[in-house]
Amino acid sequence: MATLTLKGLKKVYDRHVVAVQGMDLEIRDKEFIVFVGPSGCGKSTTLRMIAGLERISEGELYIDGKLVNQLPSKDRDIAMVFQSYALYPHMTVYDNIAFGMKIRHASKEEIDRKVREAASILNITEFLNRKPKALSGGQRQRVAIGRAIVREPKVFLMDEPLSNLDAKLRNQMRAEILKLHQRIDTTFLYVTHDQTEAMTLGDRIVIMKDGFVQQIGTPSQVFDHPANTFVAGFIGAPQMNFLDAELIRQDGGYAVSVAGVCLPLTQEQNAALDAAGTPPQPITLGVRPEHLELCGPDEEGAVLHGTCDVFELMGSSIHIHVDCGGKPIVLVRLTAEPQESRNYYHGTPISFRLLSPLVHLFERSSGRNLLPVQN
Ligand SMILES: Nc1ncnc2c1ncn2[C@@H]1O[C@H](COP(=O)(O)OP(=O)(O)O)[C@@H](O)[C@H]1O
Ligand SMILES: [Mg+2]
Repeated sequence: MATLTLKGLKKVYDRHVVAVQGMDLEIRDKEFIVFVGPSGCGKSTTLRMIAGLERISEGELYIDGKLVNQLPSKDRDIAMVFQSYALYPHMTVYDNIAFGMKIRHASKEEIDRKVREAASILNITEFLNRKPKALSGGQRQRVAIGRAIVREPKVFLMDEPLSNLDAKLRNQMRAEILKLHQRIDTTFLYVTHDQTEAMTLGDRIVIMKDGFVQQIGTPSQVFDHPANTFVAGFIGAPQMNFLDAELIRQDGGYAVSVAGVCLPLTQEQNAALDAAGTPPQPITLGVRPEHLELCGPDEEGAVLHGTCDVFELMGSSIHIHVDCGGKPIVLVRLTAEPQESRNYYHGTPISFRLLSPLVHLFERSSGRNLLPVQN
């Protein structure tokens, strides 16, 4: 049980490397928060400040309403699991999990009960007498998590815990971590550079770049209403397509002029742009690959044309890479028939339609979303 409050949390290394720039965040009890962003954006530093492994340069950190900036790590009631499992090689799995309790002089019975309970949650009971070197990567990671569980921490911190696992095991462990969260009912703070992990695990996601928070929101908020082009491009795969376009005035409303076609905007989009007093301007138009609709070359609407570059058959979908007058665009066709791939080869003419409710409008100069973003 724990709430956390980060107020202007900042970290400066060596007097000039600003790793985290004034982060504000309220974390609810039992919430699963994921920090995500490219390498070097300050995720680990944020977690290490919360854990008490790194001094906070500026700002305040509260756990359950209590200021803990000066509280030593061991008194914060926090457990952390790292990418490198950091197990003791000469000890059995049992002793690795029990170690922290032993040095705190817990009774033999209590230690045994907790180790077996954790092992059962993590499905490693049969390995309790093995040494870490006789375990697979996934099993070692479970032991590392087991060691954290037995501490019954208020807050669980995990820094890229799945990065050393192969893709299949990573998917499996992702599901296990969700189950673990449901089962032990603790606040989880999780760091990853992988947007899929962030989207599938987080109640809310904190997207970071160069030490700055770009957006905080639920997976659907950041996917449907990205705050800027960075978030839009980072979340979702294949990546959102971006096109240079113009926001124009037309028939008393707004429209987008792109690649020689005109796309009138919806009533809702019009109302939002009006409310913000948005002037006509150069924009970056964003469209997710799954939101582009294949159509015939002469159909009505905002239809763009190009030629097929390559296509990828992905099982239940096809990714079509289109060359639109030198600009690469990706389209995803869901529920594709396998034989459909025969329709596409290098050079095939492709036409597709933009649908106004499914486009995103970003200010060209700053990349900021021109439509309202819920946080
Ligand atoms: N101990 C340190 N001393 C100096 N700079 C550091 C130290 N640790 C991290 N940094 C720098 O701080 C920035 C953020 O690092 P980090 O929090 O590890 O990023 P992430 O976990 O997102 O990859 C990087 O520019 C990194 O080089
Ligand atoms: Mg890191």
